Amino acid sequence: MNARFDCFITGTDTDVGKTLVSAALLHTLTQQGVRCAGMKPVAAGATLRDGTWRNNDAESLAAAASVKLPPDLVTPFLLRTPASPHIAASIDNLTIDAASIAAAYRKICAQTDAVVVEGVGGFRVPLAQHYDTADMAVQFGLPIVLVVGVRLGCLNHALLTAESITARGLKLAGWVANTLDTTMPYFVENVSTLKAMLSAPLIGVIPHLPDVSAASAASHLDFSCLPGWPGKQS
Ligand SMILES: Nc1ncnc2c1ncn2[C@@H]1O[C@H](COP(=O)(O)OP(=O)(O)OP(=O)(O)O)[C@@H](O)[C@H]1O
Ligand SMILES: [Mg+2]
Repeated sequence: MNARFDCFITGTDTDVGKTLVSAALLHTLTQQGVRCAGMKPVAAGATLRDGTWRNNDAESLAAAASVKLPPDLVTPFLLRTPASPHIAASIDNLTIDAASIAAAYRKICAQTDAVVVEGVGGFRVPLAQHYDTADMAVQFGLPIVLVVGVRLGCLNHALLTAESITARGLKLAGWVANTLDTTMPYFVENVSTLKAMLSAPLIGVIPHLPDVSAASAASHLDFSCLPGWPGKQS
């Protein structure tokens, strides 16, 4: 049996590049011939196209994956409203629950050797009354990759997120610095500060990309520091 590589992608905030990094990871795994798929268990914000509700993140992950899956496995909770998931779910008359997410993940694992799970927003986004994104990450129990959107305030957000990951008994396995703001003063100093203060290795720095794609992001990232990375001696 092949060894598995699975990880959970979180971010310092919404819109910081989680999908871009998840797709880059899947692109790299696909290039290496690994049977891989993405999962976006909860997605808030969908558009109706050709009679089907679709979400951009789920579609980006599917495009970079080597194993094609039914959309309702990739995203067991596809919510129509672009809002915090617990609010979007109540508008759709749904309750997000851990058991449905676990069942979909088990089915995906049965068809793959690698799964990249993208979280929602930041690390502590509420999903239901007693269930948030951190609970979901604990349920998966996977090594965590933190995407830091490098902008003013990111040091605090990154350090708080790292602290929260550790407090939940999870492993911060690596982090990515993503260039959201090309004009940010002291960019290098901010990245160096996090390099010194975060316990996990820096996977890479993604510059602001003129043509955003999984392949172009992947060319700036070295995932081989991640535990269980295919081809790496354990
Ligand atoms: N390095 C970059 N260069 C240029 N554009 C980028 C870069 N990183 C991200 N973007 C763009 O910023 C937007 C947000 O990125 P992305 O969707 O990956 O964030 P996210 O954290 O997954 O957001 P969400 O919280 O909605 O899931 C996208 O339009 C993406 O193409
Ligand atoms: Mg996303």
